[in-house]
Amino acid sequence: MSNVWICELLSLVTLLVSYNVFVCECQDPEALPKEAEDCNGVFISYDLLDRRKEFPRVKNVTAQSWAFNATAKVLNTGKDVVKSWKLFIGFQHHEILVSASGGIPFETGDFPASVENGTTLVGSSLPDLESSINTAHDLSQIQALIQIAGTQFGVRPPGIPMPKSIKLENDGYKCPHPSVRKSSMFACCKSDPNYKSKLLKTKFLPRQKGDLTITYDILQAYDNNYNVEVTMENHNPLSRLDRWNLTFEWTRGEFIYSIKGAFTREMDSSKCIYGIAGQYYKDMDFTKVTNCQKNPIISDLPPEKYNDTEIGKIPFCCRNGSLYSIIMDPSLSISKFQMQVFKSPPDLDKKSLFPPARWKIMGVLNSDYTCGPPLKVEPSQFPEPRGLEATVFAISTWQIVCNISKPKQRKTRCCVTFSAYYNDSVVPCNTCACGCDNDDGYYDGKKNHRCDPNAKAMLLPSEALLVPYDNRTLKTIAWAKLKHFRVPKKLPCGDNCGVSINWHIVSDYKGGWSARITLFNWKSFQFKDWFTALQFKKGASRGFEKVYSFNGSFLSKINNTIFMQGVLGYGTNYLIGQDNDTNPKIPGKQQSVISFTKKFTPEMKIAKGDGFPSKVIFNGEECSIPTQFPMQSGNRHDVYLVQEILPLVLVFTMNQILF
Ligand SMILES: *[C@@H]1O[C@H](CO)[C@@H](O)[C@H](O)[C@H]1NC(C)=O
Ligand SMILES: *[C@@H]1O[C@H](CO)[C@@H](O)[C@H](O)[C@H]1NC(C)=O
Ligand SMILES: *[C@@H]1O[C@H](CO)[C@@H](O)[C@H](O)[C@H]1NC(C)=O
Ligand SMILES: *[C@@H]1O[C@H](CO)[C@@H](O)[C@H](O)[C@H]1NC(C)=O
Ligand SMILES: *[C@@H]1O[C@H](CO)[C@@H](O)[C@H](O)[C@H]1NC(C)=O
Ligand SMILES: *[C@@H]1O[C@H](CO)[C@@H](O)[C@H](O)[C@H]1NC(C)=O
Ligand SMILES: *[C@@H]1O[C@H](CO)[C@@H](O)[C@H](O)[C@H]1NC(C)=O
Ligand SMILES: *[C@@H]1O[C@H](CO)[C@@H](O)[C@H](O)[C@H]1NC(C)=O
Ligand SMILES: *[C@@H]1O[C@H](CO)[C@@H](O)[C@H](O)[C@H]1NC(C)=O
Ligand SMILES: *[C@@H]1O[C@H](CO)[C@@H](O)[C@H](O)[C@H]1NC(C)=O
Ligand SMILES: *[C@@H]1O[C@H](CO)[C@@H](O)[C@H](O)[C@H]1NC(C)=O
Ligand SMILES: *[C@@H]1O[C@H](CO)[C@@H](O)[C@H](O)[C@H]1NC(C)=O
Repeated sequence: MSNVWICELLSLVTLLVSYNVFVCECQDPEALPKEAEDCNGVFISYDLLDRRKEFPRVKNVTAQSWAFNATAKVLNTGKDVVKSWKLFIGFQHHEILVSASGGIPFETGDFPASVENGTTLVGSSLPDLESSINTAHDLSQIQALIQIAGTQFGVRPPGIPMPKSIKLENDGYKCPHPSVRKSSMFACCKSDPNYKSKLLKTKFLPRQKGDLTITYDILQAYDNNYNVEVTMENHNPLSRLDRWNLTFEWTRGEFIYSIKGAFTREMDSSKCIYGIAGQYYKDMDFTKVTNCQKNPIISDLPPEKYNDTEIGKIPFCCRNGSLYSIIMDPSLSISKFQMQVFKSPPDLDKKSLFPPARWKIMGVLNSDYTCGPPLKVEPSQFPEPRGLEATVFAISTWQIVCNISKPKQRKTRCCVTFSAYYNDSVVPCNTCACGCDNDDGYYDGKKNHRCDPNAKAMLLPSEALLVPYDNRTLKTIAWAKLKHFRVPKKLPCGDNCGVSINWHIVSDYKGGWSARITLFNWKSFQFKDWFTALQFKKGASRGFEKVYSFNGSFLSKINNTIFMQGVLGYGTNYLIGQDNDTNPKIPGKQQSVISFTKKFTPEMKIAKGDGFPSKVIFNGEECSIPTQFPMQSGNRHDVYLVQEILPLVLVFTMNQILF
């Protein structure tokens, strides 16, 4: 009792002495709070430990940032095991988490992570909380302790910036509104008797859906090591990965003894020799150990290694890191590899199995993914390896769900241009569609100029699409003069995209219309087995009939998307790289005409924009779309002309024409 009193006095004194610091560390972290003693269920708490003013110091109290320290606890005080605990902390002062040991924020990416609307933490090293009864009251198994550090904004001392609320989010538990006492917040969550039967039946969390899932299947477990198979599956039909890199964090001193079907980017065992592993595995020959990094980077093997008995021979391995869309080939939308993982004390028994945390996967020129924490799910089933009609279960399985995230700071890597038969100007890619550098510029035939990253892109003559931005300047200015467009003092910057896609309306007649798509590769490397996907407003794609040089399909279930890929037989499955040896450089190119009927959309108006895609995806990456369409002037002469030609003949002829 006197302890508490001293603590309160101390914190008051500290507050009075300094407005910048407030400390209350009198509580023994090992001691259970009194309220926990009376809780039959799950006791949750949040304690703010410490807060200090950060730089910059500002006069505006609301804008001042503070570094804070807090601990959160989840203590199982009931008689049932709590599977995969999930603690929600309702932050409300624009908190940014910088670290959280013992817990992983669900659905947020890397630190620092904004958690201004609250966050759900799940266990990393202790995902399940045992009961006191099963463990003879071993606190280390029945309590998860999460140490949080971060930044928060505002709240003038002596105000104490607490979260709005905390609660246990596991199904079958009900939490009252938490009680707050100074810098502590706590609640006793009780299991809901109505959920009881359900709780007992479902031992595992259901598998989740997501753009890409990773399963961590433990196939064999020994006291000090285990064999695991890691499977990555791409479920999003419009996304893909090329040359993936996978990384995660070992949280319990594990290391990779060997790996098959993939390789670690670093092969170095020195970190083991000087670490805990080196002390424990005194007799191990560490020269045979593959990797001892806490955060290894793993990549797929090249196809040549598939038959290598030492490192290959894993089904679905060795494709240079490609994870294709399920539409292209379901068997190429899965990647697998296996590892032998050695554990460190105190986890030296068969049952102590923990998956690594903080998974991340990335590819070249693909979307960005954010992965959630590993969640224990029902063990995977495999066919019996000798062909018997039996099922083999993994010993333990965890699932990691990765969803595509759109980071605000990163620009896309591809862009779209629009053109049409009725207008001889091309609407180019947006200025800086794929980002700009401060020193971007152009040469106007006399001298170099800085370009304007904020100016609107200027309309181009169609032949300008074939040359790099650096060689377009004179053409652009001449075109503007000819067409009486305004020429700004400082010309807009280029798009800087690796791939650009031109959508050209070829014809528009009573019963249908056609367009030509051209893909340009401005990078020096080629894209093998590329794909592109187009979506239209107002259902224009429902009239999709045929793509002539590519393999196209209409996906009514996926937002009426038109999906196109190159065809091996026509040689259109390669989008070759830019040719460096010419002046000006020539981009790699692929082109096809696409025909549509107006049966379902008789009222569509091409020149009003109905024939232009609203979303274009190249190899999983969403491309930047122009903000205007080619307009049609009052004179509609060309349209009548087109109507008189047999549309199909036109389509075939246009197929042969490259601008
Ligand atoms: C103080 O900062 C907050 C948050 O940045 C802002 O919304 C508010 O307008 C600022 N107040 C003044 C008086 O500048
Ligand atoms: C948080 O706690 C750690 C260790 O207890 C300490 O070193 C650090 O200064 C604290 N940070 C803040 C912002 O109080
Ligand atoms: C928090 O919620 C607000 C309003 O819904 C939203 O604008 C903001 O982006 C959210 N912040 C985060 C980090 O998700
Ligand atoms: C691997 O071996 C199989 C069967 O011998 C063969 O068909 C295949 O082409 C080989 N693959 C490579 C990459 O060598
Ligand atoms: C595999 O990737 C490397 C670059 O990482 C590339 O040079 C090689 O051509 C690729 N091989 C195949 C078969 O795609
Ligand atoms: C994968 O990692 C290697 C080595 O760190 C790096 O060179 C490569 O660019 C990475 N690839 C991707 C797609 O991030
Ligand atoms: C990923 O998205 C799915 C819905 O598509 C959602 O159910 C799941 O919770 C998300 N997972 C993460 C880790 O964001
Ligand atoms: C195109 O631009 C590049 C880079 O500025 C320059 O080196 C080259 O000479 C130009 N080519 C022509 C034909 O103007
Ligand atoms: C083209 O030039 C780039 C650098 O400007 C170089 O990295 C690339 O290898 C070259 N590609 C070819 C096909 O020559
Ligand atoms: C065209 O794509 C479909 C799947 O979208 C595939 O089944 C078919 O084999 C492909 N055809 C060719 C010629 O590549
Ligand atoms: C389909 O459209 C909806 C609404 O615009 C969007 O939320 C969803 O992500 C889209 N699906 C795909 C596969 O693009
Ligand atoms: C062509 O389209 C552009 C962009 O919409 C427009 O500014 C221009 O006036 C059009 N030209 C003609 C001749 O209609």
